[in-house]
Amino acid sequence: MKVGYVQLKTEFGEKQSNFDKVSDLLKEVQDIDLIVLPELFATGYTFTSIEEVESLSEIKDGETSQFLQEMGKRTDAVIVGGFVEKFENKLYNSAMMVSKDGVIDVYRKLHLFNKERKWFSPGNTNLKVNNIKGTKVGIMICFDWTFPEVARTLSLLGAEIIAHPANLVMPYCQNAMKTRCFCNKLYAITANRIGTEKRGEDTFEFTGRSQITSFNGEVLSSAPFDREFVDFVEIFPKKTQDKNINQYNNVHDDRREEYYWNNI
Ligand code: ACM
Repeated sequence: MKVGYVQLKTEFGEKQSNFDKVSDLLKEVQDIDLIVLPELFATGYTFTSIEEVESLSEIKDGETSQFLQEMGKRTDAVIVGGFVEKFENKLYNSAMMVSKDGVIDVYRKLHLFNKERKWFSPGNTNLKVNNIKGTKVGIMICFDWTFPEVARTLSLLGAEIIAHPANLVMPYCQNAMKTRCFCNKLYAITANRIGTEKRGEDTFEFTGRSQITSFNGEVLSSAPFDREFVDFVEIFPKKTQDKNINQYNNVHDDRREEYYWNNI
């Protein structure tokens, strides 16, 4: 399976030019199975008012899904990317999974970071996996990495790959993903942003270093911290079905769940 990511410098509020930039970065790309784009890749991240969030929001079949569908047609890939979702008068930090035939699934970020808590409702979609060309793919968004339960749940649901759109601002995730992947014996594709976004009283510096991490904790691709970047690697998702670490240990079967929650 050929999978990869687009690392992007998003211009705040400039949806069309961000679409154009992604389109340009994917210009030569064909015959790919899965592409991951950053969190909120077309809108930007550093909002200053709820009106601003609302003005950049969309329903799931809006212009971002149309654009990703077009990219899916051109690359043959299923694409996962972040967007501001409006649903029943609430705003969510969401990611959609789209093929050339349309939207496959939408995931709403469960763990909102920092001022996201002012702008978005917390996600209310279950963690789940979708079957993409015979491979089980789950989604988590950026700060969800901080909660090991997310990757664990996706692993227990059978995920072979975690698609991980991100706008990372802390320096810890890339290393943590080695552990998340090793402990759950699955692949992850973390697509991050670069650049600085200074708006209102907030300045966020995005850390780049998008990463494809293997089920054994190995880093298969690591982007620079300061440049737009696209990369693809060949992976072997069926290998993630073997959850053994050695002859005696298995990351699923060895769990002692009956002792985990009793005293909490
Ligand atoms: C983040 O969740 N965007 C840090």
